[in-house]
Amino acid sequence: MPRDTTDTLGLGEVVSNESLANLLREERKFAPPAALAANANVTAAAYEQAEADRLGFWAEQARRLTWATEPTETLDWSNPPFAKWFADGRLNVAYNCVDRHVEAGNGDRVAIHFEGEPGDSRAITYAELKDEVSRAANALTELGVGKGDRVAVYLPMIPEAAVAMLACARIGATHSVVFGGFSADAIATRIQDADAKVVITADGGYRRGKPSALKPAVDDAVSRIESVEHVLVVRRTGEDTAWTEGRDVWWHEITGRQSAEHTPEAFEAEQPLFILYTSGTTGKPKGILHTSGGYLTQAAYTHHAVFDLKPETDVYWCTADVGWVTGHSYIVYGPLANGATQVMYEGTPDTPHQGRFWEIVQKYGVTILYTAPTAIRTFMKWGDDIPAKFDLSSLRVLGSVGEPINPEAWMWYRKHIGADTCPIVDTWWQTETGAMMISPLPGVTATKPGSAQRALPGIAATVVDDEANEVPDGGGGYLVLTEPWPSMLRTIWGDDQRFLDTYWSRFEGKYFAGDGAKKDEDGDVWLLGRVDDVMLVSGHNISTTEVESALVSHPSVAEAAVVGAADETTGQAIVAFVILRGSATASDELVAELRNHVGATLGPIAKPKRVLPVAELPKTRSGKIMRRLLRDVAENRELGDVTTLTDSSVMDLITTQLPSAP
Ligand code: WT7
Repeated sequence: MPRDTTDTLGLGEVVSNESLANLLREERKFAPPAALAANANVTAAAYEQAEADRLGFWAEQARRLTWATEPTETLDWSNPPFAKWFADGRLNVAYNCVDRHVEAGNGDRVAIHFEGEPGDSRAITYAELKDEVSRAANALTELGVGKGDRVAVYLPMIPEAAVAMLACARIGATHSVVFGGFSADAIATRIQDADAKVVITADGGYRRGKPSALKPAVDDAVSRIESVEHVLVVRRTGEDTAWTEGRDVWWHEITGRQSAEHTPEAFEAEQPLFILYTSGTTGKPKGILHTSGGYLTQAAYTHHAVFDLKPETDVYWCTADVGWVTGHSYIVYGPLANGATQVMYEGTPDTPHQGRFWEIVQKYGVTILYTAPTAIRTFMKWGDDIPAKFDLSSLRVLGSVGEPINPEAWMWYRKHIGADTCPIVDTWWQTETGAMMISPLPGVTATKPGSAQRALPGIAATVVDDEANEVPDGGGGYLVLTEPWPSMLRTIWGDDQRFLDTYWSRFEGKYFAGDGAKKDEDGDVWLLGRVDDVMLVSGHNISTTEVESALVSHPSVAEAAVVGAADETTGQAIVAFVILRGSATASDELVAELRNHVGATLGPIAKPKRVLPVAELPKTRSGKIMRRLLRDVAENRELGDVTTLTDSSVMDLITTQLPSAP
């Protein structure tokens, strides 16, 4: 496929012919297990049905929800890209996630199996959840929160997080969840941007075997902001907490004196449900706005279809934090709308031991597991023998989300966690898309390690070149979404212009996702990472993901992060940071071997100029590698802002360990 390599978009071309050819070499394919396919919630017919009548398909999916007023209109696209879905319908999101399951006779079904990090556990049935959400809704009302008000939520992974979100939804308030690992500054910016009236937090949570305070960060943030009238505090650790009389309210005290009865009011489908800020590496965070009817429709449908959820028998576990969109759509809204039984875990995967996840799978008989590539690579690094000690035979579907999954990590996940039989659904989506967009269907798709494969029924995605032309099969370019979808972001909170500029101005009439992608000969989509994670080496565009996958396919490498560093001769040179597996030791021989291994796998152009073994990699709290900082190291520059790192000492570790650049 002849392509021009000039960088007309200023983003670096996404992928070169050479590198495309390399990823296309992946030829492994795994058919769905016959028994799963025979009983699958969704079959291949869904694609045909949605193809024939996309809006009709979504109108039908909206009927999974219980509406107070059924919508007659599916999509209003009269003022693109500002969409309205199911605009004349009315519903209550919390009623859909809780009450209706109780009314249907499933009140005794466990909604949440909570597993605290210290080992405490709690099972909450749908009937109990209904009471808790009702009490919390009454409490918020008592504090003066009403329809359209914003409530910030800064909590650990405890059931109250879900209860707080549902209580907001129940009274038509808009929640803005701030990840519990963020700093006071990050909380303050988000509270201010959304003009939140109430903050819901906790004294603390448990992290790596110790109580970790949360409220001090809220106190610091709130001291600078006038809009906040009350801080509601859940008692989780019981540690001493500073208290501001008149402003601070204990959650257990105020909810404890409320009635467990609360009549849910029906709101219009476009009622704002939540704002969630994206972690963006530059500029002020973007408050992504999601609304009610369309969002819940797609969260529920995709959770049903992609995980093949059977609510009577499955035990589902999504290991994300509620502070990310994955937690919103696939811990709270999707699973609860579907009446699922799920596990919620508070802590880290290595507390008190590296088998904690597998112990939880065994304890609860988890059947569907949804986690992230960064976690999977960590488990690979810890060793195959750890999951092997546990009974994982209950598992039947495995999911992945957050970044492209390297084929070798995919294979490890399938073999060591999925007994070589569980289908893996690699789900591509974003905070902005609200719900899954591209993914295999476990009972339909013959899966390919490393590919998210195909837009879900009712979703229109493709890959275009710089001039917005759709690339042919085998071609690479930018991932775009060509038709509106029910759970799409409605705008950036308070900034319609930025919404237009960021997503809708690159290619006319198409949503620009910011990801590079290619289509293989079957038309399946392979995600190549953010377009700014592309290196330009001697005029060739090489994806960081591909080089990382090549490195990880070497038996001595556990994890790899690759950056392009300015280079006089080649424009950019490839610099790779690698974490070695326990058994390997860093040596000049091994470095040479790794460079040659990449050369042999991807071609000489992709051979890293430098391979640097390190003990840790800098990651954001959502697990994304901060290549910007590694680029600073590779280019011998002073480090940029490290405040969004999970652990900023990681950078000291890296810089002190390294030889200076040649
Ligand atoms: C970006 C969105 C979706 C919830 C978690 C992240 C990357 C996400 C995949 C995947 C390849 C993926 C993309 C996307 N991404 N899932 N399955 N394969 N890349 O949400 O923080 O809004 O990040 O994550 O680059 O644009 P987010």
